[in-house]
Amino acid sequence: MRVVAVGLAAAAVAVAVALLIPWLPTSASKQADRIDFVFWFVTGICIAIFALVTAVILYAVVRFRARPDDDSDGAPIHGNTGLEIAWTAVPAVLVTAIAVVSAVALAQNDHLPKQHMRVNVSAEQFAWSFSYPKYKGLTVSTLHLPIHEAVELKMRSKDVIHSFWVPQFSQKQDLVPGITTRLVITPTRLGVYPVVCTELCGEGHALMRTQAVVETPAAFAAWVNAQEKLAEQAQGGAGGGAGLAAFNSAGCSACHTFKPAGSTATTGPDLDNLATYAQRAGKPLAAFIEESIVNPDAYIEKGFQPGIMPTNFKTTLSKAQLDALVQFLSQGKK
Ligand code: CUA
Repeated sequence: MRVVAVGLAAAAVAVAVALLIPWLPTSASKQADRIDFVFWFVTGICIAIFALVTAVILYAVVRFRARPDDDSDGAPIHGNTGLEIAWTAVPAVLVTAIAVVSAVALAQNDHLPKQHMRVNVSAEQFAWSFSYPKYKGLTVSTLHLPIHEAVELKMRSKDVIHSFWVPQFSQKQDLVPGITTRLVITPTRLGVYPVVCTELCGEGHALMRTQAVVETPAAFAAWVNAQEKLAEQAQGGAGGGAGLAAFNSAGCSACHTFKPAGSTATTGPDLDNLATYAQRAGKPLAAFIEESIVNPDAYIEKGFQPGIMPTNFKTTLSKAQLDALVQFLSQGKK
């Protein structure tokens, strides 16, 4: 009775710790639901074992404690075959159960339904870009997904190892130079979630973040439309389509607001005011823009800090891309 009472108390404490603290982010995909299931399946087993072991230990400590003046030996014990079979068989069954449940969840999470969309993910120090082959290779720095539609991410790294992680989607997948890795996601909850790089990839690793936007099919279609319109306008405008493409693939839109690109991020200065910044820096616009891309700390706009913007664009952007980007950002202004 006492062992059972201690066991129940230990189980109650463990269950409270498990349930009262929000250990996991709110699931936003089918795959995350399966991973959460495996997590709670294993945790349930752990709680039962914890309660059993705690109960036996506490009971033994209290019940069989030796008095200070008791120097006698304990009874000689030659093993207990029944007990040994039990403590071998029970863990074997539990571990097998965990292996089977995990394998089923992993296989299901890897399964790609016939009806799906593909997104090519590209990672480089220190930015993400996403392109949609279904929409003429539309390339953006924020991942947009329609709810309830399976998406296959085909992921490539341009330089070092990065790792794609959206906490609410639960899955993590490395992007390794030279190979293409994949991830299947079926979003089930509307919202904006962080995309985080979880592989230490250099000094800007902590800043290698963007967002995953899960929206209704209608909102997604409207977003695609707006992006295509921007691309069309850019095609006829300064820098041509190459400027906007470079802007998105280099990850500029992850940090900067710039109306012609439709970006609204506020980590870095608003690029719609580049002419004003150039004036303050006392430089011609195009030269100022180019310098700010390849050597961002040369002029720091008030209210912002040096050392935040990546300093590797001179190597990651080709000369043609850089020129197109400078033209696109100057929008034909002098
Ligand atoms: Cu990319 Cu850390």
